[in-house]
Amino acid sequence: MKYYIVIFGCQMNISDAERIAGVLESANYKKSQNINEADLVVIVACSVRQSAIDRVYGVAEKLNQNQKNILTGCLLESDKKKFGKIFDYILDIKNIKKLPKILTTNCYHILDDRLKCDNSSYLNITPEYKNKLLANVPIMTGCNNFCSYCVVPYTRGKEISRPAKKIVTEIKKLVNNGYKEIWLLGQNVNSYKDCSAESGQIVNFPKLLKMVDSIPGEFKLNFTSSHPKDFSDELIQVMSECKNLSMDLNLPVQSGDDEILKKMNRPYTISQYKNLVKKIRKALPNIRLSTDVIVGFPGETKKQFNNTVKLFKEIKYGVAFINKYSPRQGTAASKMKDNVPWQEKKRREKILIDIANAKNKK
Ligand code: SAM
Ligand code: SF4
Ligand code: F3S
Repeated sequence: MKYYIVIFGCQMNISDAERIAGVLESANYKKSQNINEADLVVIVACSVRQSAIDRVYGVAEKLNQNQKNILTGCLLESDKKKFGKIFDYILDIKNIKKLPKILTTNCYHILDDRLKCDNSSYLNITPEYKNKLLANVPIMTGCNNFCSYCVVPYTRGKEISRPAKKIVTEIKKLVNNGYKEIWLLGQNVNSYKDCSAESGQIVNFPKLLKMVDSIPGEFKLNFTSSHPKDFSDELIQVMSECKNLSMDLNLPVQSGDDEILKKMNRPYTISQYKNLVKKIRKALPNIRLSTDVIVGFPGETKKQFNNTVKLFKEIKYGVAFINKYSPRQGTAASKMKDNVPWQEKKRREKILIDIANAKNKK
């Protein structure tokens, strides 16, 4: 039997797909190079914007009737209900260990929602890495922050940190096998906290970073995403002492305006954010900063957007990921009026992209 995985969304979904592949390979499924030749198609969905969900329908329409199809990934309950009519099975990513069992049962829907979520173990599944030099290593999943626009706390649930010991063992193996680039992944890596250590000591993100950096061998170390509110002085200090750390750092600001940040439930001000950037740049003078921004958040005026423009000119990001606001069902922002027209969102997006690109041409 051959399988094919379609991945939408961020690095976390790429990493989840590697774990799905690991489960399928150990059940003797073989990877198909082509979706049409696969007996089983697994779609790993992203719900961060409506456009990402619309693309799932696009793929589903092209599947043929003889192909078994499974939908997993970041999904809202409301979308799961809609997709239930199209897919053979909708599986919580935390239950992917149970995939072989589901596949041997012909009555998929009988098992549906009766599977208890297996929170602790899915990150410890041995992955089938896609790349031979770069490896994504999830250190935590979920998010407790509830930014008002974001689905992640609903689709991935509460933060769960993976035991530091397991992370270090996985990375040691990767480095011994010649991997040159390691990415520590999570929706909010710097709130990582492992309380499971036998010593009773809590391993926070700076401590984990230090442990990983001390692994013998030559490799580049990256992490994403980090939240400005959890970027501690201890973390900056550890980063400045690391020997393998990449000088690329993503520090999502989301907006350059204090009022909008408040409405987004991002608990920092622009002055605090700038102060943080100053401390990071002082400790790590070669750091290259990137950021994420949402344009056209409900009620964002031209004046408020101009504060983001001002911030961009001041910080001079190397790379910027600009997202046009997309209302997501169930989030706090979905109850606010989405009153910035699409054309205006596109205009604001272009302005910020042009500033980032102009900086890169210099
Ligand atoms: N945890 C990261 C942080 O705190 O910034 C971000 C993770 S989120 C899954 C990735 C990016 O998607 C966010 O940085 C944000 O810019 C964007 N995003 C999230 N919800 C969005 C929405 N409703 N509309 C547009 N962009 C959105
Ligand atoms: Fe979403 Fe990131 Fe906010 Fe969590 S911290 S709710 S993942 S934007
Ligand atoms: Fe999308 Fe989930 Fe990532 S919603 S951006 S795939 S964490």
